Amino acid sequence: MNTMQANIHPTKTAAIEALARQLTLTIGECMKKNGRCSLALAGGSTPKDLYRRLAEVDYATRIAWEDLHIFWSDERCVPVKDPDNNYRMAWGSLLAHMPIPKDNIHAVNVEALPEDAAKAYANLLDDEPIDIVLLGLGEDGHTASLFPGGDELKSKASATASLSPKEPAGRVTMTLDTINSALHVFFLVCGAEKAQVAQKVQNQLDGPIKRTTLPAARVRPETGPALWFCDEAAPGS
Ligand code: 6PG
Repeated sequence: MNTMQANIHPTKTAAIEALARQLTLTIGECMKKNGRCSLALAGGSTPKDLYRRLAEVDYATRIAWEDLHIFWSDERCVPVKDPDNNYRMAWGSLLAHMPIPKDNIHAVNVEALPEDAAKAYANLLDDEPIDIVLLGLGEDGHTASLFPGGDELKSKASATASLSPKEPAGRVTMTLDTINSALHVFFLVCGAEKAQVAQKVQNQLDGPIKRTTLPAARVRPETGPALWFCDEAAPGS
């Protein structure tokens, strides 16, 4: 049974605080074990306040940035300067302010065609087991850029191109295989508009994977259920 391990908090701020605490702990454990940690960041708008919180001194000083390698669970195929670009969002809210070596930041090449960028990212991920993946949840049940009914759900590569029903359409995304082989998967889901879909995901997580229609319900890490950090407006609250 892969039930949702949901941590429900009274506000988005409280959910972010709990996830920031969990993340710094988990990053520290990975570093103690392997001397480094690979973290895949989520895109969209929800995690921006999480990244800003991690940039604050009480968390930033707890992370050995020189041993942290940053990836993205997905990227929109728009120029870095485009406000929709996920790398741009994480750079501005966190990475630009941290002493992280540039070589530790592994962005998707948005200048290439999506298929070529996806192949290159898959090659990079083939050599790099991901310790921690951060994910969000779309109102249609997508996560990363894995969309309901999309061919990307069947991909056996480590990363693949996909098409979003909402602009920007062109995407590169980690596949379910990559996400489910990560050591830790954390969802950050906030806002009343996500409550209904989060409940549907929870119901599907309780059932067999072959009956799932929502990509987020196919996130069933080999190491154990993903941890969900939600505010009261999200699942089952
Ligand atoms: C993306 C994200 C995507 C996101 C959800 C939720 O690139 O769009 O990776 O999976 O997490 O769409 O987005 P919001 O946080 O903006 O609601």
